[in-house]
Amino acid sequence: MKKIVGFLMAGVALATSAAAQHADPRPTYHFAPAKNWMNDPNGLVYYDGEYHLFYQYNPHGDRWGHMNWGHAVSRDLVRWQELPIAIPETADVMAFSGSAVVDWNNTTGFGRNGKPPMIAIYTGHNPKAKLQSQYLAYSNDHGRTWTVHGEVLSVGSPEFRDPKVFWHTATKRWVMVAVMALENRAVIFTSPNLRQWTFASSFGPAGGRGKNWECPDLFEIPVEGGAAGEKRWVLGINLGDNAVGGGSGGQYFIGDFDGTKFTTVQGWPSEAQWMDYGADFYAAVSWNDLPKNDPRRVWIGWANDWRYAEAIPTWPSRGLMTVPRQVTLKKYSDGYRIVQKPVTEVASLHGSRQDFAATLSEAATSLPVEGGAADLEFTIDAGSSEQVAITLTDGEGYQTVVGVNPTVNEVFVDRTRSGPHFHDGFANRHVAPVDLKSRRVKLRILADESILEVFINDGERTITDRFFRGGGPLRWSASSRGKAQLKLTAWTMNTSAPQVAAK
Ligand code: FRU
Repeated sequence: MKKIVGFLMAGVALATSAAAQHADPRPTYHFAPAKNWMNDPNGLVYYDGEYHLFYQYNPHGDRWGHMNWGHAVSRDLVRWQELPIAIPETADVMAFSGSAVVDWNNTTGFGRNGKPPMIAIYTGHNPKAKLQSQYLAYSNDHGRTWTVHGEVLSVGSPEFRDPKVFWHTATKRWVMVAVMALENRAVIFTSPNLRQWTFASSFGPAGGRGKNWECPDLFEIPVEGGAAGEKRWVLGINLGDNAVGGGSGGQYFIGDFDGTKFTTVQGWPSEAQWMDYGADFYAAVSWNDLPKNDPRRVWIGWANDWRYAEAIPTWPSRGLMTVPRQVTLKKYSDGYRIVQKPVTEVASLHGSRQDFAATLSEAATSLPVEGGAADLEFTIDAGSSEQVAITLTDGEGYQTVVGVNPTVNEVFVDRTRSGPHFHDGFANRHVAPVDLKSRRVKLRILADESILEVFINDGERTITDRFFRGGGPLRWSASSRGKAQLKLTAWTMNTSAPQVAAK
C-alpha cells in the first residue's frame, strides 16, 4: 500500500503543489478529473450507448488516500464527462480497484423492471481489520447511483485485491481474476451469480516479480498471423515496482484459458514481456461488454508511476489517464506479441492538419506543430544517421527528446532534462527495442501538455512518459547526427468537451 510513502512524501508533495499552481497546463484530450487525486482505471464497461470509466479517486486531496470510485462517462471513448462519485469509502472500508459488468441475464437478481443491473465487483480495503476482500455494488440507473450489497468473497487476506470479472461464454458462468499481491500470484474464481464464488486455480509467480502484483486482466483475442481462426488469452499483470521503466509497469502472458485455469503457450519466455517501455503506463485494464458489433479489445492505463506519483507537479488535479488503446495480438516468427494503437475515435478530435518533409542534419529543423496538444505521424528514414532526435523545448529551455538509434535498434524517450527537479526517480531515459535494420521507423506521438504516448511501427512497441516543463509554450524540432529524412503529418487536437446527455 502507499500509506507510508504518502506520509513520507507529504512535505514534498505540498511544496510541489504550491509551486505547480502556475505551471500546470491541463491536458486537452486525455482524461483527468477537475481536481484532486486519481489512480487506477476501474469498472470499465459499456452499456446503452455509454462507455464508463470509474477510477480510484480521493475527493479530499491531491495525494493517495480515502479511495472512492470516481466516475466519468463518454459516448465515443475520447470526450469524457466527469460525474459525481459512484462508490464512496465508508468509515472502515475504502473502495479499491475492481471491475464492472452488465448482468444481462440478471443472475444476481438485482435487475429492475426487466432491465439488467450494472454490477461492480471491487476490493473493500479495511486497514483496521487488515483485510482486503471483494465487494459487490449494483446500479439500476446507468451507473449514476450505486447500492453497496456488501462483501461477496474473502480469503482472510490483507493483500487479496483488484478483481476483474467477466462472463465466460463457453462455461456459462462468471470468472474473476484477482491477485494475491505480495505472493505475486493471480487467482481465479468462478460464480453462477456474482455472489457466490468458488476457487478455481492460481497462476504465478512468473515473468516479472516485485513487491506487488496488481490489477490483473484476462481476455480472449484473435491472433493475427496465426493459424486460421486461432484465438489466445491475454493475462495482464501489473507490477508495483521493478518494471522496465524503473518503477511500476505492466506485463502480459499469452496462453489458453479453459474457464478454470490459465496456462501459457509453449515456449512463452520466462522473462517479463512488457506492455509498454515507458515509466507511465500502469494498471491498464480493458472494457467489458463492448457492443456486439464492435469486436475490439480496448484498454486504458493510468499515466503515472508509483515511485513519484504523489510528487508530480500538477495542480489542482494529480492523475491522468492515457488515451484508450485498441489491443491486438500478433504472431511473429519469434512468438506472440501484443500491439497497441490509439482508438480510431481519436481522429474525431483532429483540428488542422500540416504536412511536412525535411532532410535533417545536426542543426535543429523546426517542426510545424502548434501548441502542446497534437497527434503526430512521423516517418523516418535514418539513412546513415547515428541518431535522429525529435525535441520538445519549453519556454525555459528544458527539453524532452524522442530519439531513434538505428545502430543499437532502439527508440527512446529521454526526459533527463525535461523540467525542474521534483523527484529522484523521474529524470531518466526509457528505451524500447525495435528492429531498425531497414533504418526506417514510423512513430505516432500523441502529445498532450504533460504526456507523450509514442506508438512505434503501428504500435508494435509503445513508450508512455509524462514530462513536466519549466514554463512557457512548447516548440518542436528535429535533428540528426548524419543525414536523415523525415516526413510528418501533424494535427492539432480539439479540446474534448463533454457530450453526454443526462440518463
Ligand atoms: C494499484 C493499486 C491497486 C489498489 C489501488 C488502491 O495502483 O495499488 O492494487 O486496488 O491501487 O488505490
